[in-house]
Amino acid sequence: MNELRVNLADRSYPIVIGPGLIRQEAVLARGLGSGAGATAALVTSDRIAPLYARTLADTLTRAGARVIDIVVPDGETAKTWETLNLVHDAMLANRCDRKTTIVALGGGVIGDLAGFAAATYQRGVPFIQVPTTLLALVDSSVGGKTAINHPRGKNMVGAFYQPTLVLADTDTLATLPEREYRSGLAEVVKYGFIYDYAFLEWLEANMDALLARDPAALARAIYRSCEIKAEIVGQDERETGIRAWLNLGHTFGHAIETGLGYGQWLHGEAVAAGMVTAAELSRLQGHLSAADVARVRRLIARAGLPTVSPRLGQERYFELMRIDKKVEGGAIRYVLLKRLGEAYVAAVPDEQVVPALDAAYDHAA
Ligand SMILES: NC(=O)c1ccc[n+]([C@@H]2O[C@H](COP(=O)([O-])OP(=O)(O)OC[C@H]3O[C@@H](n4cnc5c(N)ncnc54)[C@H](O)[C@@H]3O)[C@@H](O)[C@H]2O)c1
Ligand SMILES: [Zn+2]
Repeated sequence: MNELRVNLADRSYPIVIGPGLIRQEAVLARGLGSGAGATAALVTSDRIAPLYARTLADTLTRAGARVIDIVVPDGETAKTWETLNLVHDAMLANRCDRKTTIVALGGGVIGDLAGFAAATYQRGVPFIQVPTTLLALVDSSVGGKTAINHPRGKNMVGAFYQPTLVLADTDTLATLPEREYRSGLAEVVKYGFIYDYAFLEWLEANMDALLARDPAALARAIYRSCEIKAEIVGQDERETGIRAWLNLGHTFGHAIETGLGYGQWLHGEAVAAGMVTAAELSRLQGHLSAADVARVRRLIARAGLPTVSPRLGQERYFELMRIDKKVEGGAIRYVLLKRLGEAYVAAVPDEQVVPALDAAYDHAA
């Protein structure tokens, strides 16, 4: 069992990482607001519930909590206002008060949705993240970004709202489908590209072990990813500076997700293709070399992720990217790479982005 800390003054919290944690009531109790006598609203999806909800509910009970089960529809298409309302409805029906702790059991969708439910229920109740996808373990469960989607754009309605505990049980990955697992690897390699060249080299040397879900390799990748995320969030909770680096590939990626319709490409798949486009744009802006871009492409391909973007049409890309939250005063701001291991943010005029979008398409298709 390993422990990290997100340092945000009175909103600081631990990230506990290791196998078997959803059975450990003493660890879970650390995130429960009022200890014994607490109420826990366990929010999960209909796909995750049969796998882990019973075990976690039993552990919460042993930790002294009254448990309310709230099961919502699964997947990105359910990250909506309607689903949020289901959570609030169930909490009100069960007379949950402001001391109720929401426990989010699932991937990034449940974490973002339940986190936003916690931020908004009676102006805010405590919440615990129990991530069960690789993406959620290494990224979305840490840092306090919560949101639902709007038909016009991803994560358009949300709040910064930190959990009281992240309980990262690595055993849950055993049941994660291969495609979801690879999607999570996109966020792992992202940390290497934006922040840590040595980690990038380590990923290049250990990608096969990671694909085989080798426990030691996986433990190291999860730990280092959470460590980087905690470090960045601790410096810049509200994304006025360095936190934007975490969005490498996401401006292009969100356009792909929204443009194709939520759930067509997985988040990590869209981000993977988006990181290749961002690397191309970084080269066109005079930073990365062609060999660097090839390395980005190769590592993403080895993780079994797409390196080629879907043909949405350039006008559609720009239209979608302009809705992105990183637009300021009409200019689209991109997260680019200064070199492998260091990012920067810059507004780039559309005409300079066009050749990068061109390079992102599969010309053979
Ligand atoms: N808040 C943040 O900082 C942040 C960061 C990155 C991504 N996100 C968001 O995260 C979402 C993507 O998250 P995701 O990739 O985890 O998708 P997801 O939450 O939809 O989970 C993927 C699928 O795997 C299933 N699943 C989850 N855990 C499982 C397990 N252990 N065994 C078997 N099946 C399991 C889920 O039911 C779902 O069908 C996006 O909405 C994205 O915007 C948020
Ligand atoms: Zn992401």
